[in-house]
Amino acid sequence: MSAPYVLHMITPLANVSPFDVNMAMDAGIDMVVPYTGIETAQVEALTQDAMFSRDPKNAARTGLFIGGRDAAMALDMLDVARKAMFPPFQISVFADPSGAFTTAAAMVAVVERALRRAGLDGLTGLDVQVYGATGVVGGIAGLIAAQAGGNVTLVSHRGVSAVQGKAEEFGRRYGVTLSCADTASAGKAALLERAEVVLACGKAGITVLSAEDLRAAKRLRVAADINAVPPAGVEGVGVQDDGVALPTASGAASGAVGIGALAIGNVKFKVQHHLLERMQTGGTAVAFDFQDAMDAARTIAGKAS
Ligand SMILES: NC(=O)c1ccc[n+]([C@@H]2O[C@H](COP(=O)([O-])OP(=O)(O)OC[C@H]3O[C@@H](n4cnc5c(N)ncnc54)[C@H](OP(=O)(O)O)[C@@H]3O)[C@@H](O)[C@H]2O)c1
Repeated sequence: MSAPYVLHMITPLANVSPFDVNMAMDAGIDMVVPYTGIETAQVEALTQDAMFSRDPKNAARTGLFIGGRDAAMALDMLDVARKAMFPPFQISVFADPSGAFTTAAAMVAVVERALRRAGLDGLTGLDVQVYGATGVVGGIAGLIAAQAGGNVTLVSHRGVSAVQGKAEEFGRRYGVTLSCADTASAGKAALLERAEVVLACGKAGITVLSAEDLRAAKRLRVAADINAVPPAGVEGVGVQDDGVALPTASGAASGAVGIGALAIGNVKFKVQHHLLERMQTGGTAVAFDFQDAMDAARTIAGKAS
């Protein structure tokens, strides 16, 4: 009989995410154990404590889930955990801070699908603007979009320096070039004039782009909004929209379509579920970050096209 699957869920915050606990149990994990207030320096010892306590044949039925609200810290924790392991004591690791890796991956995959439906080669060569880019979802969405070939600008509403550090960090880690802008000094209209894809990743319940703002977006092909809490993050984009023409009254480019938070959330949910299942079913230890989430999101979004 195989050992129960135990998922050790760590976070630097005061609580692990109830969303992630529910997702893990619904994916068939037998037991979730939360560890809060965890620092990167503790991850090596925690990983080894989890891996040495199990017979090597059951090591793959042990997992570490890394949460929090800081993508760089989660990626550092993932690195530390991987380096702490050696055969035959290898356990699985999955980083998804605030759901950002699975959410951003789903968002970019659904946008790519809409662009392909319009006859374009995904994001390749397109001007992609990420609003709310200082957030954990926005930063990773920008990184994945750049890896997918987009010319990405991280846009903040509170000064360009707020996103510069993130652009430099991702450039150093992954060799991507991310431009930076802020709406106060650049002006939304000037930015949107050249936008071909908008990824709206603003705080829940905040409209980051109004219908009036979109009047300037004459080159726009897709506007995706990740905010599911009314009012919409992009005015005129419904939460269920998946390639629905933007209201022409907005003045946005004709042929521009909107993608809403629940259309993205549906793919995000499946991606997270799939990766949690793969932790348990492969028979060997796995390590997942946003790139694995993106691979899964492309497959899942592709099946629905
Ligand atoms: N649909 C799904 O499956 C799903 C899953 C997870 C998360 N989400 C949603 O994804 C979004 C991003 O999550 P998050 O955790 O990264 O959000 P967050 O940290 O709460 O906020 C993201 C960014 O929104 C911008 N912002 C905040 N207040 C603003 C204001 N008054 N006006 C304009 N911009 C403002 C800020 O960026 P700047 O300073 O750079 O402008 C902030 O960093 C949220 O709406 C969340 O609910 C959706």
